[in-house]
Amino acid sequence: MISAAKPVIGAEELRAVRDVFKTGWLGMGDRVKAFENKLKAMFGRKHAICVNTGTTALHLSLDSIGIKKGDEVIVPSLTFIGTVHPILQCGARPVFCDVDLRDLNISIPFLKKLITRRTKAIVPVHYGGEPCNMDAILSIAGKKGIRVIEDAAHAFGSKYKGALIGSFGHITCFSFDPIKNITCGEGGAILLDDDKTADIIIKKRILGIDKDTWNRYQHKRSWLYEVHMKGYRYHMSNINAAIGLVQFEKFASFAKARKKIAAWYDKKLSGIKGVKLLSHDYAAIVPFNYTILADRRNELIEYLEKNGIGAVLNYIPNHLQPFFKAEKAILPNTDLAYSRIVSIPLHAGMTVSDAQRVVQAIKDFYKQQG
Ligand SMILES: Cc1ncc(COP(=O)(O)O)c(C=O)c1O
Repeated sequence: MISAAKPVIGAEELRAVRDVFKTGWLGMGDRVKAFENKLKAMFGRKHAICVNTGTTALHLSLDSIGIKKGDEVIVPSLTFIGTVHPILQCGARPVFCDVDLRDLNISIPFLKKLITRRTKAIVPVHYGGEPCNMDAILSIAGKKGIRVIEDAAHAFGSKYKGALIGSFGHITCFSFDPIKNITCGEGGAILLDDDKTADIIIKKRILGIDKDTWNRYQHKRSWLYEVHMKGYRYHMSNINAAIGLVQFEKFASFAKARKKIAAWYDKKLSGIKGVKLLSHDYAAIVPFNYTILADRRNELIEYLEKNGIGAVLNYIPNHLQPFFKAEKAILPNTDLAYSRIVSIPLHAGMTVSDAQRVVQAIKDFYKQQG
C-alpha cells in the first residue's frame, strides 16, 4: 500500500526519546526550550512558543488576542476542522470564506465582502503549502485593526516573496502532527514578535501559571506559583520536542524529497484528460499534499484504493458539515472544488517508483473509463 501521507521516523527519533526517558523529565523542559530556540532562529522571530497540537496553537493565539463571544473570525471553509474549532472555543462565530480555484487559498475579493464591524480576526490557511496572498490580507486587516492568525499547518518551509511563512505577519501557527512536513508525534508552535501577546500566550499555555515556566525549562520545580488568568494545559512535552529536534535536522532532506515527487507528478500528470493540476513553484514552497481536481473523483479514489494507493480529501468543506448548516454559507468555488479534489500520495518517504505506480494507476483509470 502506498499511503497518502505518513511520517518518516527512525532510530534517531527513538534515541532522542530514550535520552529524555533517562533524564526522568518527560514534561515541558529543556528539549522544548531547545526546539523553540531552533524555530526562533529559523524564522528570525522574537517568540516561538511550542504547544501540544496545531489546533491548540490556533486556540491559544485567538484567545490571547481577546477573541470572544460576539466576534466574527473569517476562515476558509476548505480546511481541516482543526482550524475552525478554535474559533468556536473562543465563543466567536466562524465566517466561512470561499477559495480561489487556482490554488485553493482564501479568495481575496470574497474576503473583502465578508468584513463587518464584528470581524476581529482572519485565519488564512496556506493550502498545501502554497502561501496565501499575504500582502492583500495584511493590508485589508491593517486598515481595520483586524488581526491575522495564519494557519501554517501545511506551510512549514514555504516562502512568500522570498520570506519564510512564519517569519512575518502578526501570528503564525504551525502543526507538527504525524503527517506534517516535520513531526513531533503531536505538536504545534506559535511564532510572533509582539511581547505583550507572547507573555499572555506563555501564561495561558500552562493554566495561567506564572513564575513556574522558567524553572521548568531548567528542570527545577518551583513550589511557588501564581495564577493570573484563565489558561489551558496546552504545553509541549520534552518527549515530543525531542522528536521535533531530530526532525528539524532532517527537514532539508524531507523538503527535497517532497519537492521532487511533486515536480515529478506535475510533469507526468499534465495532459491527462479528466485531471486538472494546481500550479506551484517548488523553488519557493514545500508541498504538504498533492491535490488534483479530478473528473469522477469518487470512482478514482475507489480505483486507487483497490490498487493499493491511498487517497484522501483535503477537505470536506466545513460549511457543508451538519454542525455548521445554520450558517447557510454560499461558497460556489469551494463547492466546485469539493466535487473534484483528491490528494494523492505525497510524503518524504516516497520513491519515484512509488510515484510512477500512482501516475500509472491514474492513467489506467481514465483509459478504462474512456
Ligand atoms: C490546515 C490545518 N489546520 C489545522 C490543523 C490542526 O493541527 P493539529 O492536527 O496539530 O491539531 C491541521 C492538521 O491536520 C491542518 O491540516
